[in-house]
Amino acid sequence: MRSFLFVPADGGKKLDKAMASGADAVIVDLEDSIAPDGKAGARRSAADFVSDAVQTANRPRLLVRVNGLATGLTDADLDAVVPARPDAIMLPKAEGGAGVVHADAKLSAREAIAGVPEGHIKIVAIATETATALFLAGTYRDASPRLAGLTWGAEDLSAELGAQANRGPDGRFLDPYRLARALCLAGAAAAQVPAIDTVTVDFRDLKALRRESEEAQRDGFAGKMAIHPAQVPVINEVFTPTAAAIAKARAVVAAFEANPGRGAVGIDGVMYDRPHLERARQLLARAVTAGVA
Ligand code: COA
Ligand code: MG
Repeated sequence: MRSFLFVPADGGKKLDKAMASGADAVIVDLEDSIAPDGKAGARRSAADFVSDAVQTANRPRLLVRVNGLATGLTDADLDAVVPARPDAIMLPKAEGGAGVVHADAKLSAREAIAGVPEGHIKIVAIATETATALFLAGTYRDASPRLAGLTWGAEDLSAELGAQANRGPDGRFLDPYRLARALCLAGAAAAQVPAIDTVTVDFRDLKALRRESEEAQRDGFAGKMAIHPAQVPVINEVFTPTAAAIAKARAVVAAFEANPGRGAVGIDGVMYDRPHLERARQLLARAVTAGVA
């Protein structure tokens, strides 16, 4: 799963555009892009859209971003959208594994009422939106079999920290947000789920998007979220392993297979050991998911 495109639940034709965008996943948003007065209407639109969209062929994964557990809005969000059977909910302002356990229980009750198989709806948590959340990023492991990924956010965190900016004059994230990004990456690895990079809000700057995508891909993120369809092709390209990378990974796997029992092999004058083999296998798995191997 490389690209996750946000679309406001009241987005009208944007919802159909998102389905046709080439994104691997569409996130129908009930949270920040919907004003308080619009929540009830947005829940109905989200449910109508998702219940139709899940039945289309060759579709992207369908997520619904609900409102956070502290808002008091989550229950009504779930009442509306669980019967529509989204593939997952996105849980914003998550504060560690306990929040995921909480959301899991809410989902189980509604799945039972709606006749949806228990555990069908997965959870992707936004793990760095509050200060407390940063200290709990390492607690997602074994929280719930529903947990399908962790992502991070810099906007709500900067508001919570009382910061005036989250990026420096060069456009790069400042230290507190780089820490949040790294905690998301480590928290996801510890929980054995994919890490998904945050959005690039300046949707006209595709150069910045490419740079952030490449840095995320390099550091171990499996994909990245988008807010505009123009961002999707860039993200898909960067997170699809290249032919050269696939060939290199195959060579590493082949070298170990040709030398069973060896902990390290040499290829073209460079040493490769077990972590390299693990990385090569992960890259080949991503290539298969992306349909290029
Ligand atoms: N999903 C699907 N389609 C989208 C889209 C999205 N996220 N963002 C823009 N589009 C469509 C527009 O409707 C427009 O379609 P048209 O050519 O048929 O009129 C086309 O893409 C070009 O859009 P553009 O004019 O460049 O942008 P805009 O001013 O219409 O929208 C935003 C800008 C930011 C309001 C819009 O991109 C958006 O709503 N993004 C998602 C916001 C969100 O969900 N935020 C919460 C997560 S951080
Ligand atoms: Mg937010």
